[in-house]
Amino acid sequence: MITAIRPVPAAVTVRVPAKVNLQLAVGSVRDDGYHPLVTVFHAVSLSDEVTVRPAPRMALTVTGEDADAVPTDRSNLAWRAAIALAKAAGVRGADAAVRIEIRKRIPVAAGLAGGSGDGAATLVACNELWQAGLSQRDLAEVAAALGSDVPFSLMGGTAVGRGRGEQLTPALVAGSYHWALAFGRAGLPTTQVYATFDRLRATRTAAGATQSAEPSLSTELMTALRSGDPERVGPLLMNDLQPAALSMEPDLRRTLTAGREHGALGAIVSGSGPTCAFLATDAAHARELAVLLTGAGVCRAAVRASGPVPGATVVRDGGRS
Ligand code: C5P
Repeated sequence: MITAIRPVPAAVTVRVPAKVNLQLAVGSVRDDGYHPLVTVFHAVSLSDEVTVRPAPRMALTVTGEDADAVPTDRSNLAWRAAIALAKAAGVRGADAAVRIEIRKRIPVAAGLAGGSGDGAATLVACNELWQAGLSQRDLAEVAAALGSDVPFSLMGGTAVGRGRGEQLTPALVAGSYHWALAFGRAGLPTTQVYATFDRLRATRTAAGATQSAEPSLSTELMTALRSGDPERVGPLLMNDLQPAALSMEPDLRRTLTAGREHGALGAIVSGSGPTCAFLATDAAHARELAVLLTGAGVCRAAVRASGPVPGATVVRDGGRS
């Protein structure tokens, strides 16, 4: 039997998608501070790229969208991902030092899982660079310890997330969906949006409203996604964090209204916001929506994207024998 010897790469580049939540149902806060979720994650074609290469010591650089807002030390999830993967793979000392280069197109603190994506991309890139051979399941375990959205950034596609979002089941989806994504003028910290969610919920409860602590999956949305018909999917998009994001950024109401007025089939805050995601009828409509939203001055910028797309994927693997 001939065994192929793979050359050790000099550098590995991984592309990782942004996500939007087609449904985000949030329950009451748990004892550990996290909220139980049922969510439908959907990976879209807006992406970051992460390159890792061996280096004398750990280093991290960031270029592109919002680069100034991204930490370049061990508080960066990508840095923590490299350390976590080295530990899981038994890579030690100087061998575990890498230079991480992040090229961002996904805005920061935008509700699009950009930081989680960079963490997921670093896991895949280091696994390849060190030829560590960790399975998808091993990587998912390391990912879950890094953050709630990191496992989905690895998996991509469309998937139902439970627990705090890290327990994933791939979802059956027909066709592709075209989106316009409108970026907010400033980021919204996820922790603060959840805290606002808790306050709003407590106020409603005090006013006598009954609410279920158990979030549940929308079977109507899942059926619509299997039909591949965006006209059916649009009205079923929902996000329990949206009232919290809107109370923190009231201007987002204008953004959502502008998208609806321009024919969006669904208009929703993505995750904890402030990005607003608009479902379009087709690719041309998504482009038109992005142009109109930018022109209307209701967002910092708007781009089009489509989904579902794969999760973190090696795109370049610079060989060296
Ligand atoms: O898991 P991750 O570090 O990405 O979460 C960031 C913050 O978002 C948490 O510290 C928590 O405040 C909030 N969160 C939550 N419930 C979840 C996921 C995140 O409260 N299911």
